[in-house]
Amino acid sequence: MSFLEPSDLPATGSPDDLKEFTAELNLDASRQTRGHEASIEQQHASEAVGALIRADNLIAGYFPGVNILNGSDLYAKEGELVGIIGPNGAGKSTLLKALFGLVNVTSGAVLLRDEDITNLRADQLVKRGVGFVPQNNNVFPSLTIEENMQMGAYQDPKSFKERFEAVTELFPALGTRRKQRTGSLSGGERQMVAMGRALMMAPSVLLLDEPSAGLSPALQDEVFVRVKGINASGVTVIIVEQNARRCLQIVDRGYVLDQGKNAYTGTGASLANDPKVIELYLGTLAKA
Ligand SMILES: Nc1ncnc2c1ncn2[C@@H]1O[C@H](COP(=O)(O)OP(=O)(O)OP(=O)(O)O)[C@@H](O)[C@H]1O
Ligand SMILES: [Mg+2]
Repeated sequence: MSFLEPSDLPATGSPDDLKEFTAELNLDASRQTRGHEASIEQQHASEAVGALIRADNLIAGYFPGVNILNGSDLYAKEGELVGIIGPNGAGKSTLLKALFGLVNVTSGAVLLRDEDITNLRADQLVKRGVGFVPQNNNVFPSLTIEENMQMGAYQDPKSFKERFEAVTELFPALGTRRKQRTGSLSGGERQMVAMGRALMMAPSVLLLDEPSAGLSPALQDEVFVRVKGINASGVTVIIVEQNARRCLQIVDRGYVLDQGKNAYTGTGASLANDPKVIELYLGTLAKA
């Protein structure tokens, strides 16, 4: 943003001149903003090269003509733990659903190891190594833990035993309580079942939508420790979180999504310490 010099002002000062002058200034400011946005997008695109999964300039929504995602970009490199935070209704769940083929992407692309996977069906994505734990209804409550795990491995039932062993290494309680009906578990335990189910197909990238929502602070902590554990076992993780502060503490990189667009991005630590991010998105938590 530059400041005006007296010589920049219109010569005559007539109302028409002034109108034209203001219009030109506004156009200039909007060009500058767009130029700034374009250069941020370019930088993001160059950083995204070679990413395990990336989304470029996604436009998506639930009804024709009503876009919820307005050009969001995202990438996760192999082994990264990436967080998405933002206000309610910002489109965080919609972004994860767009990555998992559950909402129609009308423009832009989702790439997995440079393969275009935009709008592929969920079962095709699971086959390619993408796992998804939705925000709601993410377990089969009438089934036992073990049966939920079988559902997770339904595309490759022969791998069940081996995968269940691997999953119980991360979540031992799923093994010891395998015969328990999932509907009788606590909210925190159910989240473990949901994550375990998604891990049954040995995904290379796991998409988690608000795994700590509705849990007590102690259980939220446990979820974050588990998510770190999943990531440490070699799975790339993209996590949407309502507990923004805690999320930024554990992630390698984060995105702040607002109105279906990236508002801020950076390392977890840099976002957590950015005064603008604190003021706009972490303020109420900071005061809590
Ligand atoms: N199935 C749907 N059909 C129509 N509109 C939807 C649907 N799901 C979400 N929306 C709308 O899309 C917008 C973004 O919703 P989304 O669930 O992606 O937000 P969010 O950032 O995940 O919010 P929250 O923090 O509350 O989970 C909202 O305006 C919401 O009403
Ligand atoms: Mg959501």
